[in-house]
Amino acid sequence: MARSWGRLLARIAGYLILVLLVLAALAITFTVGWRPVIGAKKRALTARKFEPTPERLRRGDYLVHAVMHCMGCHSQYVEKSNPPALASKEGSGQVLFEEGGFRIVAPNITSDPETGIGKWSDDAIARAIREGIAADGSILFPIMPYEHFRQLSDEDLASIVVLIRSLPPAHSDLPLDKIPFLFARLIQAAPQPVTEPVPAPDTSTPAQRGAYLVKMATCSDCHTPLNSKFQPIPGMEMAGGNPLGEVHSANITPDASGIGYYDEALFLQTMRTGSVRARKLNLIMPWWIFRNMTDDDLKSVFAYLRTLKPVHHIVDNTEKPTLCKVCGQKHGLGERN
Ligand code: HEC
Ligand code: HEC
Repeated sequence: MARSWGRLLARIAGYLILVLLVLAALAITFTVGWRPVIGAKKRALTARKFEPTPERLRRGDYLVHAVMHCMGCHSQYVEKSNPPALASKEGSGQVLFEEGGFRIVAPNITSDPETGIGKWSDDAIARAIREGIAADGSILFPIMPYEHFRQLSDEDLASIVVLIRSLPPAHSDLPLDKIPFLFARLIQAAPQPVTEPVPAPDTSTPAQRGAYLVKMATCSDCHTPLNSKFQPIPGMEMAGGNPLGEVHSANITPDASGIGYYDEALFLQTMRTGSVRARKLNLIMPWWIFRNMTDDDLKSVFAYLRTLKPVHHIVDNTEKPTLCKVCGQKHGLGERN
Protein backbone atom coordinates (compact mmCIF):
# COMPACT_ATOMS: atom_id res chain seq x y z
CA MET A 1 0.00 0.00 0.00
CA ALA A 2 2.61 2.48 1.05
CA ARG A 3 5.09 1.46 -1.59
CA SER A 4 4.68 4.24 -4.06
CA TRP A 5 5.33 7.08 -1.66
CA GLY A 6 8.20 5.02 -0.26
CA ARG A 7 9.63 4.61 -3.73
CA LEU A 8 9.34 8.31 -4.36
CA LEU A 9 11.32 8.97 -1.23
CA ALA A 10 13.69 6.17 -2.12
CA ARG A 11 14.55 8.02 -5.29
CA ILE A 12 15.44 11.10 -3.33
CA ALA A 13 17.37 8.92 -0.97
CA GLY A 14 19.25 7.30 -3.85
CA TYR A 15 20.15 10.69 -5.13
CA LEU A 16 21.27 11.92 -1.75
CA ILE A 17 23.38 8.85 -1.21
CA LEU A 18 25.35 9.65 -4.31
CA VAL A 19 25.77 13.21 -3.21
CA LEU A 20 26.89 12.21 0.22
CA LEU A 21 29.31 9.61 -0.98
CA VAL A 22 31.13 12.17 -3.03
CA LEU A 23 30.96 14.89 -0.41
CA ALA A 24 32.27 12.48 2.16
CA ALA A 25 35.06 11.37 -0.16
CA LEU A 26 36.07 14.97 -0.77
CA ALA A 27 35.92 15.80 2.90
CA ILE A 28 38.20 12.90 3.61
CA THR A 29 40.73 13.91 1.02
CA PHE A 30 40.90 17.52 2.07
CA THR A 31 39.91 17.94 5.66
CA VAL A 32 39.39 14.99 7.92
CA GLY A 33 42.18 12.73 6.75
CA TRP A 34 42.06 10.09 9.44
CA ARG A 35 38.42 10.11 10.61
CA PRO A 36 37.45 7.01 8.64
CA VAL A 37 40.26 5.14 10.33
CA ILE A 38 40.10 6.44 13.87
CA GLY A 39 36.29 6.77 14.04
CA ALA A 40 33.74 9.60 14.21
CA LYS A 41 33.89 12.59 16.52
CA LYS A 42 31.43 12.12 19.33
CA ARG A 43 30.86 13.31 22.86
CA ALA A 44 29.81 11.29 25.89
CA LEU A 45 26.13 11.37 26.87
CA THR A 46 25.05 13.54 29.80
CA ALA A 47 22.20 13.04 32.27
CA ARG A 48 20.33 16.14 31.13
CA LYS A 49 16.56 15.90 31.02
CA PHE A 50 14.08 18.08 29.17
CA GLU A 51 11.07 18.90 31.30
CA PRO A 52 7.91 18.19 29.27
CA THR A 53 6.13 21.53 29.61
CA PRO A 54 2.99 22.34 27.57
CA GLU A 55 4.97 25.11 25.78
CA ARG A 56 7.63 22.63 24.65
CA LEU A 57 5.01 20.13 23.55
CA ARG A 58 3.34 22.82 21.46
CA ARG A 59 6.59 24.11 19.94
CA GLY A 60 7.84 20.56 19.26
CA ASP A 61 4.55 19.63 17.60
CA TYR A 62 4.87 22.67 15.37
CA LEU A 63 8.50 22.09 14.39
CA VAL A 64 7.99 18.38 13.68
CA HIS A 65 4.68 18.73 11.81
CA ALA A 66 5.04 22.06 10.01
CA VAL A 67 8.71 22.83 9.47
CA MET A 68 11.15 19.92 9.74
CA HIS A 69 9.22 17.14 8.00
CA CYS A 70 10.60 14.40 10.27
CA MET A 71 7.55 12.29 9.41
CA GLY A 72 8.11 12.47 5.66
CA CYS A 73 10.93 9.99 6.32
CA HIS A 74 9.94 8.32 9.60
CA SER A 75 6.33 7.37 8.63
CA GLN A 76 4.62 5.48 5.83
CA TYR A 77 1.90 6.95 3.65
CA VAL A 78 -1.01 5.51 1.69
CA GLU A 79 -0.27 5.14 -1.98
CA LYS A 80 -1.54 7.97 -4.19
CA SER A 81 -3.25 9.79 -1.34
CA ASN A 82 -3.04 13.51 -1.96
CA PRO A 83 -2.21 15.06 0.41
CA PRO A 84 -0.42 11.96 1.80
CA ALA A 85 -2.38 10.12 4.52
CA LEU A 86 -0.59 8.01 7.15
CA ALA A 87 -0.52 4.28 6.34
CA SER A 88 0.87 3.20 9.71
CA LYS A 89 1.36 4.69 13.15
CA GLU A 90 3.15 7.99 13.02
CA GLY A 91 6.88 7.72 13.55
CA SER A 92 6.97 3.93 13.21
CA GLY A 93 9.60 4.16 10.47
CA GLN A 94 10.11 2.68 7.02
CA VAL A 95 12.72 1.33 4.64
CA LEU A 96 13.73 4.45 2.72
CA PHE A 97 16.01 2.94 0.16
CA GLU A 98 16.97 -0.56 -0.85
CA GLU A 99 19.10 -1.57 -3.78
CA GLY A 100 21.77 -4.22 -4.16
CA GLY A 101 23.90 -4.33 -1.05
CA PHE A 102 22.46 -1.08 0.23
CA ARG A 103 19.57 -0.51 2.59
CA ILE A 104 18.74 2.66 4.49
CA VAL A 105 16.04 2.53 7.12
CA ALA A 106 14.42 5.52 8.79
CA PRO A 107 14.00 3.91 12.22
CA ASN A 108 10.96 3.70 14.47
CA ILE A 109 11.19 6.86 16.60
CA THR A 110 8.09 6.21 18.72
CA SER A 111 8.42 5.44 22.42
CA ASP A 112 8.05 1.67 21.95
CA PRO A 113 10.74 0.21 24.25
CA GLU A 114 11.61 -2.77 22.01
CA THR A 115 11.50 -1.53 18.44
CA GLY A 116 11.45 2.24 19.01
CA ILE A 117 13.49 4.63 21.13
CA GLY A 118 11.50 4.28 24.36
CA LYS A 119 14.63 3.31 26.30
CA TRP A 120 16.81 6.15 25.02
CA SER A 121 17.66 8.99 27.41
CA ASP A 122 16.69 12.56 26.52
CA ASP A 123 20.29 13.41 25.73
CA ALA A 124 20.67 10.33 23.49
CA ILE A 125 17.72 11.50 21.38
CA ALA A 126 19.08 15.05 21.37
CA ARG A 127 22.52 13.85 20.27
CA ALA A 128 21.00 11.77 17.44
CA ILE A 129 19.05 14.74 16.08
CA ARG A 130 21.80 17.36 16.15
CA GLU A 131 25.02 15.35 16.12
CA GLY A 132 24.26 12.15 14.19
CA ILE A 133 25.20 9.58 16.85
CA ALA A 134 22.74 6.86 17.97
CA ALA A 135 22.32 5.82 21.63
CA ASP A 136 24.73 2.88 21.19
CA GLY A 137 27.40 5.21 19.77
CA SER A 138 26.94 4.16 16.15
CA ILE A 139 26.90 6.73 13.37
CA LEU A 140 23.70 7.78 11.63
CA PHE A 141 23.76 7.92 7.86
CA PRO A 142 23.63 11.63 6.96
CA ILE A 143 20.38 11.26 5.02
CA MET A 144 19.06 12.04 8.49
CA PRO A 145 19.63 15.83 8.12
CA TYR A 146 21.66 16.31 11.31
CA GLU A 147 24.10 18.52 9.46
CA HIS A 148 21.29 21.10 9.11
CA PHE A 149 19.78 20.35 12.50
CA ARG A 150 23.11 21.16 14.19
CA GLN A 151 21.98 24.80 14.22
CA LEU A 152 18.73 23.98 15.99
CA SER A 153 18.57 26.10 19.15
CA ASP A 154 18.83 24.31 22.51
CA GLU A 155 15.26 25.19 23.40
CA ASP A 156 13.87 24.02 20.04
CA LEU A 157 15.85 20.79 20.42
CA ALA A 158 14.35 20.24 23.88
CA SER A 159 10.87 20.84 22.43
CA ILE A 160 11.39 18.28 19.68
CA VAL A 161 12.64 15.66 22.14
CA VAL A 162 9.59 16.28 24.37
CA LEU A 163 7.28 15.86 21.34
CA ILE A 164 9.01 12.71 20.07
CA ARG A 165 8.74 11.18 23.56
CA SER A 166 5.00 11.85 23.56
CA LEU A 167 4.34 9.85 20.35
CA PRO A 168 2.17 6.80 21.09
CA PRO A 169 4.37 3.68 21.04
CA ALA A 170 4.13 1.62 17.87
CA HIS A 171 5.66 -1.83 17.62
CA SER A 172 7.32 -2.01 14.24
CA ASP A 173 10.11 -4.40 13.44
CA LEU A 174 12.21 -3.03 10.61
CA PRO A 175 15.22 -4.63 8.95
CA LEU A 176 18.67 -3.28 9.77
CA ASP A 177 20.64 -0.91 7.55
CA LYS A 178 22.98 -2.46 5.04
CA ILE A 179 25.83 -0.08 4.40
CA PRO A 180 28.82 -1.28 2.40
CA PHE A 181 32.08 -1.12 4.31
CA LEU A 182 33.57 1.78 2.36
CA PHE A 183 30.47 3.96 2.92
CA ALA A 184 30.36 3.00 6.57
CA ARG A 185 33.92 4.29 6.90
CA LEU A 186 33.37 7.42 4.81
CA ILE A 187 30.37 8.65 6.79
CA GLN A 188 32.48 8.71 9.94
CA ALA A 189 33.45 12.20 8.79
CA ALA A 190 29.87 13.54 9.06
CA PRO A 191 29.03 13.67 12.80
CA GLN A 192 30.16 16.75 14.73
CA PRO A 193 29.60 17.11 18.47
CA VAL A 194 27.73 20.19 19.69
CA THR A 195 29.50 21.23 22.88
CA GLU A 196 28.60 24.92 23.09
CA PRO A 197 25.13 26.29 23.87
CA VAL A 198 23.10 27.08 20.72
CA PRO A 199 21.14 30.27 21.46
CA ALA A 200 17.71 31.12 20.07
CA PRO A 201 17.96 32.29 16.45
CA ASP A 202 17.96 35.96 15.49
CA THR A 203 14.31 36.82 14.88
CA SER A 204 14.68 40.58 14.65
CA THR A 205 13.43 40.78 11.05
CA PRO A 206 11.09 38.57 8.99
CA ALA A 207 14.03 37.65 6.70
CA GLN A 208 16.13 36.53 9.70
CA ARG A 209 13.23 34.45 11.03
CA GLY A 210 12.81 33.00 7.56
CA ALA A 211 16.49 32.07 7.27
CA TYR A 212 16.22 29.79 10.32
CA LEU A 213 13.00 28.17 9.09
CA VAL A 214 14.47 27.58 5.62
CA LYS A 215 17.54 25.95 7.20
CA MET A 216 15.43 23.64 9.37
CA ALA A 217 13.09 22.81 6.47
CA THR A 218 16.18 21.82 4.41
CA CYS A 219 14.84 23.66 1.32
CA SER A 220 18.36 23.95 -0.10
CA ASP A 221 18.90 20.15 -0.15
CA CYS A 222 16.36 19.98 -2.95
CA HIS A 223 16.48 23.47 -4.46
CA THR A 224 20.24 24.18 -4.80
CA PRO A 225 21.65 22.44 -7.89
CA LEU A 226 24.84 20.37 -7.72
CA ASN A 227 27.69 20.05 -10.18
CA SER A 228 29.17 16.82 -11.53
CA LYS A 229 31.19 16.47 -8.32
CA PHE A 230 27.92 16.69 -6.37
CA GLN A 231 28.85 20.01 -4.79
CA PRO A 232 26.49 23.01 -4.73
CA ILE A 233 27.12 25.05 -7.89
CA PRO A 234 28.62 28.38 -6.78
CA GLY A 235 26.24 31.30 -7.34
CA MET A 236 23.19 29.08 -7.87
CA GLU A 237 21.75 28.92 -4.39
CA MET A 238 18.05 27.83 -4.62
CA ALA A 239 18.09 28.10 -8.42
CA GLY A 240 16.57 24.61 -8.87
CA GLY A 241 17.00 21.90 -11.49
CA ASN A 242 17.82 18.97 -9.15
CA PRO A 243 16.32 15.71 -10.46
CA LEU A 244 13.87 14.36 -7.86
CA GLY A 245 11.86 11.43 -9.17
CA GLU A 246 9.62 12.53 -12.05
CA VAL A 247 10.32 16.23 -11.65
CA HIS A 248 13.11 18.73 -11.16
CA SER A 249 13.11 21.23 -8.31
CA ALA A 250 12.00 24.77 -9.11
CA ASN A 251 14.06 27.95 -9.25
CA ILE A 252 12.83 29.79 -6.15
CA THR A 253 15.13 32.83 -6.42
CA PRO A 254 13.54 36.25 -7.12
CA ASP A 255 14.58 36.18 -10.82
CA ALA A 256 11.87 36.42 -13.50
CA SER A 257 12.72 32.81 -14.43
CA GLY A 258 12.26 31.86 -10.75
CA ILE A 259 9.46 33.07 -8.52
CA GLY A 260 10.02 36.77 -9.17
CA TYR A 261 6.39 37.10 -10.21
CA TYR A 262 5.09 35.74 -6.89
CA ASP A 263 3.64 38.08 -4.33
CA GLU A 264 3.24 37.10 -0.69
CA ALA A 265 -0.36 36.02 -1.25
CA LEU A 266 0.54 33.68 -4.12
CA PHE A 267 3.40 32.19 -2.06
CA LEU A 268 1.08 31.44 0.86
CA GLN A 269 -1.53 29.98 -1.46
CA THR A 270 1.09 27.75 -3.16
CA MET A 271 2.52 26.48 0.12
CA ARG A 272 -0.97 25.84 1.54
CA THR A 273 -2.58 24.14 -1.46
CA GLY A 274 0.32 22.58 -3.41
CA SER A 275 -0.87 24.35 -6.54
CA VAL A 276 0.55 27.40 -8.25
CA ARG A 277 -2.82 28.71 -9.39
CA ALA A 278 -4.00 25.82 -11.66
CA ARG A 279 -0.63 24.00 -11.81
CA LYS A 280 -0.35 21.16 -9.28
CA LEU A 281 3.03 20.51 -7.65
CA ASN A 282 4.51 17.02 -7.30
CA LEU A 283 4.25 15.56 -3.78
CA ILE A 284 8.04 15.36 -3.55
CA MET A 285 7.75 19.03 -2.66
CA PRO A 286 6.64 18.74 1.00
CA TRP A 287 4.05 21.55 0.79
CA TRP A 288 1.67 19.19 2.57
CA ILE A 289 3.84 19.60 5.67
CA PHE A 290 4.83 23.26 5.21
CA ARG A 291 1.15 24.19 4.81
CA ASN A 292 0.91 23.81 8.61
CA MET A 293 3.21 26.80 9.14
CA THR A 294 1.59 29.95 10.52
CA ASP A 295 0.92 32.85 8.15
CA ASP A 296 3.65 34.79 9.93
CA ASP A 297 6.23 32.05 9.42
CA LEU A 298 5.32 31.53 5.76
CA LYS A 299 5.61 35.28 5.24
CA SER A 300 9.05 35.16 6.90
CA VAL A 301 10.14 32.33 4.61
CA PHE A 302 9.00 34.41 1.65
CA ALA A 303 10.85 37.48 3.00
CA TYR A 304 14.03 35.40 3.24
CA LEU A 305 13.65 33.98 -0.28
CA ARG A 306 13.36 37.59 -1.49
CA THR A 307 16.87 38.31 -0.14
CA LEU A 308 18.45 35.61 -2.35
CA LYS A 309 20.46 36.59 -5.37
CA PRO A 310 18.19 36.39 -8.47
CA VAL A 311 19.53 33.64 -10.73
CA HIS A 312 18.44 33.27 -14.33
CA HIS A 313 17.63 29.56 -14.72
CA ILE A 314 14.51 28.34 -16.49
CA VAL A 315 13.13 25.04 -15.14
CA ASP A 316 9.69 24.04 -16.34
CA ASN A 317 8.33 20.62 -15.38
CA THR A 318 5.42 20.93 -17.82
CA GLU A 319 7.83 20.81 -20.81
CA LYS A 320 9.90 17.97 -22.24
CA PRO A 321 13.39 17.62 -20.62
CA THR A 322 16.31 18.99 -22.63
CA LEU A 323 19.96 19.44 -21.67
CA CYS A 324 20.70 22.56 -19.63
CA LYS A 325 24.23 23.88 -19.85
CA VAL A 326 23.87 25.93 -16.67
CA CYS A 327 23.14 23.08 -14.23
CA GLY A 328 24.16 20.10 -16.39
CA GLN A 329 20.79 18.34 -15.93
CA LYS A 330 18.14 17.45 -18.49
CA HIS A 331 15.03 19.33 -17.43
CA GLY A 332 12.03 21.08 -19.00
CA LEU A 333 13.18 24.06 -21.15
CA GLY A 334 16.81 23.30 -20.28
CA GLU A 335 17.86 24.31 -23.82
CA ARG A 336 16.65 27.86 -23.17
CA ASN A 337 19.36 28.48 -20.53
C1 HEC B 1 15.29 12.94 4.90
C2 HEC B 1 14.80 11.94 5.82
C3 HEC B 1 14.80 12.22 7.31
C4 HEC B 1 14.30 13.33 7.96
C5 HEC B 1 13.67 14.58 7.35
C6 HEC B 1 14.49 13.07 9.37
N1 HEC B 1 15.09 11.86 9.57
FE1 HEC B 1 15.60 11.03 11.37
N2 HEC B 1 16.56 9.53 10.42
C7 HEC B 1 16.53 9.30 9.06
C8 HEC B 1 17.30 8.11 8.78
C9 HEC B 1 17.52 7.49 7.40
C10 HEC B 1 17.82 7.64 10.01
C11 HEC B 1 18.70 6.42 10.25
C12 HEC B 1 20.09 6.64 9.74
C13 HEC B 1 20.91 5.37 9.84
O1 HEC B 1 20.32 4.29 9.94
O2 HEC B 1 22.14 5.42 9.82
C14 HEC B 1 17.32 8.57 11.03
C15 HEC B 1 17.58 8.44 12.38
C16 HEC B 1 16.94 9.16 13.38
C17 HEC B 1 17.06 8.91 14.81
C18 HEC B 1 17.89 7.79 15.44
C19 HEC B 1 16.99 6.59 15.63
C20 HEC B 1 17.69 5.26 15.76
O3 HEC B 1 17.03 4.28 16.18
O4 HEC B 1 18.87 5.15 15.43
C21 HEC B 1 16.26 9.83 15.44
C22 HEC B 1 16.02 9.95 16.94
C23 HEC B 1 15.66 10.65 14.41
N3 HEC B 1 16.10 10.22 13.17
C24 HEC B 1 14.77 11.67 14.64
C25 HEC B 1 14.37 12.59 13.66
C26 HEC B 1 13.66 13.80 13.95
C27 HEC B 1 13.18 14.23 15.32
C28 HEC B 1 13.50 14.46 12.76
C29 HEC B 1 12.90 15.85 12.51
C30 HEC B 1 13.38 16.90 13.38
C31 HEC B 1 14.09 13.64 11.73
N4 HEC B 1 14.61 12.50 12.31
C32 HEC B 1 14.10 13.95 10.37
C33 HEC B 1 15.89 10.07 8.11
C34 HEC B 1 15.30 11.31 8.34
C1 HEC C 1 12.29 17.07 -0.84
C2 HEC C 1 12.61 18.12 -1.78
C3 HEC C 1 12.09 19.52 -1.56
C4 HEC C 1 12.17 20.28 -0.42
C5 HEC C 1 12.77 19.89 0.94
C6 HEC C 1 11.58 21.55 -0.75
N1 HEC C 1 11.16 21.57 -2.04
FE1 HEC C 1 10.18 23.10 -3.01
N2 HEC C 1 9.97 21.96 -4.67
C7 HEC C 1 10.54 20.71 -4.85
C8 HEC C 1 10.24 20.25 -6.20
C9 HEC C 1 10.69 18.93 -6.80
C10 HEC C 1 9.47 21.25 -6.81
C11 HEC C 1 8.88 21.22 -8.22
C12 HEC C 1 7.55 20.50 -8.16
C13 HEC C 1 6.79 20.47 -9.46
O1 HEC C 1 7.08 21.28 -10.37
O2 HEC C 1 5.88 19.64 -9.58
C14 HEC C 1 9.32 22.31 -5.82
C15 HEC C 1 8.59 23.48 -6.04
C16 HEC C 1 8.55 24.54 -5.17
C17 HEC C 1 7.82 25.78 -5.40
C18 HEC C 1 6.96 26.09 -6.63
C19 HEC C 1 7.69 26.95 -7.61
C20 HEC C 1 6.92 27.14 -8.91
O3 HEC C 1 6.24 28.16 -9.06
O4 HEC C 1 7.01 26.25 -9.74
C21 HEC C 1 8.08 26.60 -4.34
C22 HEC C 1 7.56 28.00 -4.13
C23 HEC C 1 8.93 25.86 -3.42
N3 HEC C 1 9.19 24.61 -3.95
C24 HEC C 1 9.42 26.37 -2.24
C25 HEC C 1 10.10 25.58 -1.27
C26 HEC C 1 10.49 26.07 0.02
C27 HEC C 1 10.31 27.49 0.50
C28 HEC C 1 11.05 25.02 0.70
C29 HEC C 1 11.53 24.96 2.13
C30 HEC C 1 10.60 25.55 3.11
C31 HEC C 1 11.01 23.87 -0.19
N4 HEC C 1 10.44 24.26 -1.38
C32 HEC C 1 11.48 22.61 0.13
C33 HEC C 1 11.24 19.98 -3.91
C34 HEC C 1 11.47 20.35 -2.59
